[in-house]
Amino acid sequence: MKTITSHTHAASANGVWHHLKLMPGASDDIASADGLSSLVVQQGRIVWMGAHSSLPAAFASSLSGLPPLPHFDGQGVLVTPGLVDCHTHLVYGGTRANEYAMRLAGADYEAIARAGGGIVSTVKATREATEDQLYALAAPRLEQLLADGVCAIEIKSGYGLALEPEARMLRVARRLGVDYGVTVRTTFLGAHALPPEYAGRSGAYIDLVCNDMMPSLAAAGLIDAVDVFCERIAFSLAETEQVFQAAQALGLPVKLHAEQLSDMGGSALAARYGALSCDHIEHLSDEGISAMKKSGTVAVLLPGAYYSLRDTHVPPIAALRAAGVPMAVSTDHNPGTSPALSLLLMANMACNLFHLTVPEALAGITRHAARALGLQATHGTLAVGQVANFVLWDLQDSAELVYWLGQRPKRTIVRQGRITCNDLMNQPINVLASRG
Ligand code: NIG
Ligand code: FE
Repeated sequence: MKTITSHTHAASANGVWHHLKLMPGASDDIASADGLSSLVVQQGRIVWMGAHSSLPAAFASSLSGLPPLPHFDGQGVLVTPGLVDCHTHLVYGGTRANEYAMRLAGADYEAIARAGGGIVSTVKATREATEDQLYALAAPRLEQLLADGVCAIEIKSGYGLALEPEARMLRVARRLGVDYGVTVRTTFLGAHALPPEYAGRSGAYIDLVCNDMMPSLAAAGLIDAVDVFCERIAFSLAETEQVFQAAQALGLPVKLHAEQLSDMGGSALAARYGALSCDHIEHLSDEGISAMKKSGTVAVLLPGAYYSLRDTHVPPIAALRAAGVPMAVSTDHNPGTSPALSLLLMANMACNLFHLTVPEALAGITRHAARALGLQATHGTLAVGQVANFVLWDLQDSAELVYWLGQRPKRTIVRQGRITCNDLMNQPINVLASRG
C-alpha cells in the first residue's frame, strides 16, 4: 500500500504571518490601515488576526519562558483562504475519452447514457478495480487539485452502486484525506444511476439504497452527506424524496444534482429538506430560487460540465444574484462530463461562461463552497477559529487568480497548519532576532 508521508513531513506553519494582503472578501475581520494584516497560527488553527501593530505581546515574544514563535514575512503578497472544491467524483476506474470523441462526432450525453454508456460504463470499471487501484488512480488527481491551493474537497461515491464497491470508494476518499492532510467530506451518491442488474426495477434499487446501503455505510462512518441525481435519465422526484427521507432519519444532510438537463423541480424539494446545496441548476426555475433562498441552500455552479457537454443553457445567475442565493463554483471532477483538475480554471469559466464577477468567483471557490459542505465555521474564510488553510500568491491583483489560463501562479500553501508547497517564503525569521 502506498502511503504518502509528505504532509506529516511538511514544515509547521505555527507562528506569526505578517504583511499579508488579504483577498477582498477573504475575511470579515478588518485589515489594518496599510491594508496589510497579520495572523497567528498555532496547532493547525488561526488563533489571532489583525494589524501587526496590535499583535498581542504573548505572540510577539516569549513571556512564558517558551521560545518565541517564528515569524513569516508575507511581503505584501496576495493571500486567500485555502480553496474548497465542493463537488467532485474523484474516485473511479477507467476514463470516458471514447464518449468525449462520440459527443464531438454528434452523439449526445443522454443518448449515450440510454445506450448503456455514461455513468454505467464507469460503474463497470470502478467495480473491477481494487481499493488500492482506486486509490492509486485518485491520488494524482487529488495532487493536481491540491497544487491549485485546494484545502478541502468533497468526494462522492456513486460509481459502485452496490454496497461493497460504494464502501470501497468512500474508504478511498477517507484515506486520501488522512494521507494528504486535506479535509475530505464524503457524499453517498448511491442514487446516481440505475445499476444494470436492476434494469426496469428502479423502485427496488432505491429501496436498497435507503434500507441497506445508506444505513450500513453511515454506521461505518463513511457518509458525511447524501446526494441524488434527479433527472429524467436518472431518478424521479418521488425517488429523490425517498432517499432524502432515509437520510433525514439518519441525521445526514442532503444535497442534489438538480435541474442539469431539465427542470424536474428537484431544487425546491431539496430546499424543503434543508439541503446544503443544489448543484448544476442550468434549468433552475424562479420557484426553485426562492425555495433555496428560504432554506439557505447554496447554488453550486459547475462550468466544467456545462463546457464539456457544450451546453448552451446558462444557469439563472442574475436571478440567483438578485435573490441573494450564495453561489459556489466547483470542478465536478468526473470522467464523463467534467475531467477538470483545476479549480482556478473553473473560476475563470464561471466568469466567462456564466458571467460571474471576479469577487463572486473567488467567494465561490472559498467561502460559499465551504458553506455548500456545511464547513463554514472552519473553512473558506480567514478568521480566528478557522483551520489554518491559506495560500500566499505571487500576485498583486486578485483578478489574476481568475485571469490566467493554464498557468499556475507561484504560491505558498498552508494546509492544516503545514507548509505543503513553498514557492515564496524564505525560512521563518525569529521574531526577537529580527527585531534586533
Ligand atoms: O455531476 N450529473 C450527474 N453526475 C455527474 C456526471 C457523472 C458521469 O457522467 O459520470 C455530473 O456531471
Ligand atoms: Fe456531479
